Amino acid sequence: MQTAGFDRKNISSIRPVFDRDRPKLYIETYGCQMNVNDSEVVAAIMQNAGYSVTKDIGDANLILINTCSVRDNAEQRIWGRLEYFRLEKKKRPDVSIGVIGCMAERLKESLLENNVVDIVSGPDAYRELPKLVEKTESGQKGINVLLSRDETYADISPVRLDKTGVTAFISIMRGCNNVCAFCVVPYTRGGERSRNPETVIRELKELSDNGYKEVTLLGQNVDSYSWNGVAFADLLATVAESTPDMRIRFSTSHPKDMTDNVLKTMAKYDNICNYIHLPVQSGSTSILQSMNRKYTREEYLQRIETIRKIIPDCAISTDIIAGFCGETQKDHEDTLSLMREVGYDFAYMFKYSERPNTKAARQFRDDVPEEVKVKRLMEIIDLQSELSLASHKKDIGSTLEVLVEDTSKRSENDLCGRTPQNKMVVFPKENRKIGDLIKVKIIACTQATLKGK
Ligand code: 5AD
Ligand code: SF4
Repeated sequence: MQTAGFDRKNISSIRPVFDRDRPKLYIETYGCQMNVNDSEVVAAIMQNAGYSVTKDIGDANLILINTCSVRDNAEQRIWGRLEYFRLEKKKRPDVSIGVIGCMAERLKESLLENNVVDIVSGPDAYRELPKLVEKTESGQKGINVLLSRDETYADISPVRLDKTGVTAFISIMRGCNNVCAFCVVPYTRGGERSRNPETVIRELKELSDNGYKEVTLLGQNVDSYSWNGVAFADLLATVAESTPDMRIRFSTSHPKDMTDNVLKTMAKYDNICNYIHLPVQSGSTSILQSMNRKYTREEYLQRIETIRKIIPDCAISTDIIAGFCGETQKDHEDTLSLMREVGYDFAYMFKYSERPNTKAARQFRDDVPEEVKVKRLMEIIDLQSELSLASHKKDIGSTLEVLVEDTSKRSENDLCGRTPQNKMVVFPKENRKIGDLIKVKIIACTQATLKGK
């Protein structure tokens, strides 16, 4: 594959460069928001190495799949995709295929055994990708799964792969130092490290100059952000002040680490959205203890009370795992009662999936039968539907600020966007356009969306 002789201008663009004469990268992303942003870093690295990005897999010289290992079904989907890529490679044997991200880090060399994959790169090895790709040109395999103590890709401007140019992610830290018993992330993404705040602000201004209207600051545990005495609340304040016209969000907060300073900063700046994602995982103190979450049910509820005191109209969402090791019916009922007590606006809900080599896999038996896990998960989902609907019903009749993000999936004549509380609103297009910040009167709702005019 020829990579020399391409035109180097535009190379630091934050939008994809489409150029017929360059080799083409097709990249597919699974999993969390951090992965979405990592794919943008990878696109920047490959664009800098002479590639251009394509949305057409049939046109690609290099296919990368950015993977997730957090639950077994996430990995199963990726195995399915690799079988599809095998067919692509049969048609065009010179195409290179790379598995990158968490599954690459977890499964390492073994991924090369199926005769589909040519390249394996862990989340801290993306700078090496051009070299790994080069190796495949001489028929070798390329693998790098070294984790780093300090890699944050701070100097790389991600090439933004979203289609609308309105909302974007900025990673402020990588890795995780917690050892939640169920979680594979500390093993696949390595230890926690924070990014130089100056580079965060540079990226923020770049986005603002390019017309973006909202950023989400990302980290596995943003509350433990720390750079030479700059804590997360300080970073948040600097970000809010640097671009007062930009909406600011962040994710993910950890209940044991979230400080009142963060809440006060949110209350102080209008452009920081009143929305917090605060994963609880379980409502039972004894399960929380075996999960190694380091807070009790009461401490979590105390955090919620403080949020409500400092930011009365703050929306709150959560993550919940059903059927963790040793979970009894009583523990499950504790989860349901906590959900009711908090009245979550939204939740991501999962069945426990044992991940090899995690603390839980080593210490406990995955002893809740599958059918019980399914039943409990369904009860959790049903309850959350009720709570989401109740949360949406409260908004009917009010006028909310909406950032227009896209055309509605259901109708060309409708647009959609989010309120500061992260609620999705669908409303007639009329003369509005994507990127506008508008006032919308809420007239109806379902549990998933608000309808406005
Ligand atoms: N099984 C089920 N859900 C999990 N999560 C993380 N690990 C697992 C697992 N092994 C969920 C947690 C976490 C979210 C990102 O994914 O709820 O907050
Ligand atoms: Fe996983 Fe816990 Fe770290 Fe979140 S805080 S990434 S759940 S170990």
